[in-house]
Amino acid sequence: MDNNIKANDIHKKVIFSGIQPTGKITIGNYLGSIKNWIPMQEEFDSIFCVVDMHSITVNQIPAELRKNTYDLLALYLACGLDPQKSILFVQSHVPAHAELAWVLNTITYVGEMNRMTQFKDKSRKHADNINMGLMDYPVLMASDILLYQTDLVPVGIDQKQHVELARDIAQRFNNRYSPTFVVPECYTPKIGAKIMSLQEPTAKMSKSDENENAVVTMLDDKDAIMRKFKRAVTDSDTEVRFDVENKPGVSNLLSIYSCFTGKTIEQAQNEFSGKGYGDFKIKVAESVIEGIAPIQSEQQRIAKDKAYMDEVLKDGAMRACRIAYKTLDKVYKKVGFIPKIR
Ligand code: TYM
Repeated sequence: MDNNIKANDIHKKVIFSGIQPTGKITIGNYLGSIKNWIPMQEEFDSIFCVVDMHSITVNQIPAELRKNTYDLLALYLACGLDPQKSILFVQSHVPAHAELAWVLNTITYVGEMNRMTQFKDKSRKHADNINMGLMDYPVLMASDILLYQTDLVPVGIDQKQHVELARDIAQRFNNRYSPTFVVPECYTPKIGAKIMSLQEPTAKMSKSDENENAVVTMLDDKDAIMRKFKRAVTDSDTEVRFDVENKPGVSNLLSIYSCFTGKTIEQAQNEFSGKGYGDFKIKVAESVIEGIAPIQSEQQRIAKDKAYMDEVLKDGAMRACRIAYKTLDKVYKKVGFIPKIR
């Protein structure tokens, strides 16, 4: 770790991550992020956010956004994020995110933002709504990360470019005004950092995919999961072998199986050697069903308990604000704003 500053050397390292409450959360989201956060809570000072402000960069139906926000919090809790161990909150409850983003905007170049792969993809997808928020989104994400003096950002591979931008912005601010931010590192899991579409295994599995068969969501029932895996695109060969270049479909299924069973890719490969794709697909589907069934029932239970979720969010926002405003106060002072009379 080559961070310029350690916020507090005697404390645990800090992790921060978040998910947008849009659409249905996929097993790609789960394997690339939440699943890895659970054990990390034990080792790190952990902060997990439902990033609702990011969501409105594409059109949302307000009532749906509210429901999705609660549902995602319920999923966090159902997966095992523990409000006693981690800070869990909703981004819009901590105004410092938007406030810091404004300052960071002034040291970020339009050219940098134009190079962001996700901005280019989303601009193509939402050609009728290329708004400033869509372009500015990675700066808001940098603000999320830097406010908490984050050491490590656990995400899927698709977010790596954004974390790298956050590093550049942190370094730039530190150089211009004096050391202020920890320079964060990106953490991606060895397996599961990029789960691919079941129908087009060279493309990422994505919440916004219109082809239902391409995506397994955390809400899918047993039958839907089995059906989708049985229909998963593989190849005309018969060998179950991990080879991303030549066998992307099979390799994706092996990764999913490995993540849900805890077996290594090699163990999984051996298990299916000499067996056909039919058996293999059924076993992968069963591992997913078994892995997410307990999460689903717990999520449904928690989602009914609004009072409990509101309690978690209130406490989370209070704790998050305490840390965030400490950083924001420093930033405001360094850029030359006069201190607020409190
Ligand atoms: P979002 O909501 O698109 O995705 C949430 C998390 O899921 C990961 N992910 C995947 N991992 C593996 N395979 C896939 N197919 C797959 N699809 C998505 C993402 O990498 C991510 O970790 N900008 C972020 C949210 C965000 C954030 C932050 C993250 C906002 N501020 C600060 C970390 C720190 C996003 O849109 O993720």
